[in-house]
Amino acid sequence: MAIVTTKDMFAKAYNGGYAIGAFNVNNMEIIQGITEAAIELKAPLILQVSKGARNYAKHVYLMKLIEAAVQDAEQTAGFDLPICVHLDHGDSFELCKSCIDGGFTSVMIDKSGESFEDNIKITKQVVEYAHDHGVVVEAELGTLAGVEDEVKVKAEDSSYTRPEDVQEFVERTGCDSLAIAIGTSHGAYKFTAAQCTRDANGKLVPPPLRFDILEEVSKRLPGFPIVLHGSSSVPQEFVDKINKFGGKMPDAVGIPEEQLRKAASMAVCKINIDSDLRLALTACIREHFAEHPDHFDPRQYLKPGREAIKAMVEHKLVNVLGCDGKA
Ligand code: G3H
Ligand code: 13P
Ligand code: ZN
Repeated sequence: MAIVTTKDMFAKAYNGGYAIGAFNVNNMEIIQGITEAAIELKAPLILQVSKGARNYAKHVYLMKLIEAAVQDAEQTAGFDLPICVHLDHGDSFELCKSCIDGGFTSVMIDKSGESFEDNIKITKQVVEYAHDHGVVVEAELGTLAGVEDEVKVKAEDSSYTRPEDVQEFVERTGCDSLAIAIGTSHGAYKFTAAQCTRDANGKLVPPPLRFDILEEVSKRLPGFPIVLHGSSSVPQEFVDKINKFGGKMPDAVGIPEEQLRKAASMAVCKINIDSDLRLALTACIREHFAEHPDHFDPRQYLKPGREAIKAMVEHKLVNVLGCDGKA
């Protein structure tokens, strides 16, 4: 089993009312933190690689590190860890092809910023190549606010997915899953203060996701896996730690966990998380240097970050995704 597509994972997740966590990976510590959590909780995983991550670490390094995690699971825990290796926000046919040729089992072609017809045309081209090679394809309809892989999408440009478009899009492209826009967005600042209310502690409380759109989409695509991008919850313990130890992240706010859990119990089968991993690592490194200003051994400051990622991912697998024990 080991490195697999999402086909089986999504079918089980859809029927079981849970979702698979899709975590962005950029280096060894992030991969280890996530996979150690999944091994301990026997959870299926999607590890996803953005164009930026691929440029930073190189395709082959990330692929080999993921393969190493699978081998480690088998050798140390006797566990066949099912991992889908996915290209996040592929922006061209060529990039998708290169990832398919390089052993990824899933790719996203994101042409959500193009016209409906151009989105269909390029997605279909990727689907044909991917399916010929046993690889699955995620596509996107609707635009998320915030940062999408080096391209700034302004908040005012965000547009929810139109449920009346989804059936035609899926039928004409043949894509295997669909990312939709229902109010999530990328990064650690998902909502402006003006879009939120404040709780008794002065923390921002974001507006609810558009579950009406999700419901309408799933009615039109029964049994079809839906994907949510921009689904970090921006844990305030990490934001507070970053701010306490010299950082400056005022009013960082994410998607409340209960709302993600609700989405996972509906048609959402894949929930994307990147910012929370970055926050965990950054908070630990800042705290470490504040307490040990004389340290300069990367093992000393990366280890607590890896442990924090593991603990956070364990929490999400159980409390947000509900996919523990499902591998
Ligand atoms: O959706 C975007 C992901 O968080 C990837 O971000 O392009 O900085 O790797 P990145
Ligand atoms: P976050 O920025 O909310 O972690 O979203 C990540 C994502 O959608 C990657 O594609
Ligand atoms: Zn995304």
